Amino acid sequence: MTHMKWIGASIVGLSMAFVASSASAVTIGFSQVGDEGDWRPAWSKNMQDEAKAEGIDLKFADAQGKEEEQLKAVRAFIAQKVDAIIIAPVVITGWDQVLKEAKAAGIPVFLADRDVDTQDKSLFVTRISADFNLEGRLAGAWLAQATVGNCNIVELQGTTGAAPAIERKKGFEAVISNFPNMKIVKTQSGNFTTDGGKQVMEAFIKATDGLKGICASWAHNDNMQLGAIQAMKEAGIKPGVDVKMVSVDYVPAIKPLLADGTVNASVELRSDIGKDIYSVVLGYLKDKKELPKWVVIASALHRAPTPGN
Ligand code: AHR
Repeated sequence: MTHMKWIGASIVGLSMAFVASSASAVTIGFSQVGDEGDWRPAWSKNMQDEAKAEGIDLKFADAQGKEEEQLKAVRAFIAQKVDAIIIAPVVITGWDQVLKEAKAAGIPVFLADRDVDTQDKSLFVTRISADFNLEGRLAGAWLAQATVGNCNIVELQGTTGAAPAIERKKGFEAVISNFPNMKIVKTQSGNFTTDGGKQVMEAFIKATDGLKGICASWAHNDNMQLGAIQAMKEAGIKPGVDVKMVSVDYVPAIKPLLADGTVNASVELRSDIGKDIYSVVLGYLKDKKELPKWVVIASALHRAPTPGN
């Protein structure tokens, strides 16, 4: 090969390599629960922004709170031969079959935020999420100290069958079971939404003659607590003063209410975890090294700056 031909061949080779590398952006399918509340849209935006920053081709599917939509989305990702699939499952059950299909297609699946209930842990690589049980325990421990272990509680549960609703409830109950005078006297699902929280609190107010004898409202997320606050104010009950208010997420809308004592405590669930999630997924795609089945994101309790909190 002459010198000129060698240079020409090298240029062609280099540009082919460039085309190949620019065409081979990692493609990830992300099946998101929906857009309920304030926390989830903030997390969706963070996932999209971080994907852009990493040069990931993200296929984002919003399931509008329906598991059947998630199953469809995951099957579509498999058909598109994406490099990896991330799922935030609406509920924990009903996942085995589609996870087996992804495994058979050789596509690694990562769980983010919420969990699945499966016996076969080889069906997903790992789960990247906060510890929902710990969040429930932090809320319960805060309430136990704030009330010296004496409190009748109304509970606003998250979506029935969803990992955070199940685990937050369990964690909270594990703590209060140590205090004979702490009891959940009413409990109902508000589906993690502001409207749901308002409706549930209205029902509690009716059933207890204006929350008579109720010492605290424990909500599995801030949005339900925001709805509960509306219902209480409409009934002339002062949240944070007449009834202690503790919830999870620490969304921006709850912060001024914590500052003025309308809300007493909120456990922070980070919504800026896209970077952590992609670093786990991209690392795995590169070296295929086995990972622990759970990569835990830290949780923190925020309290109102008022005495007794
Ligand atoms: O899965 C996490 C929970 O789901 C968040 O606490 C809540 O706001 C949500 O939509």
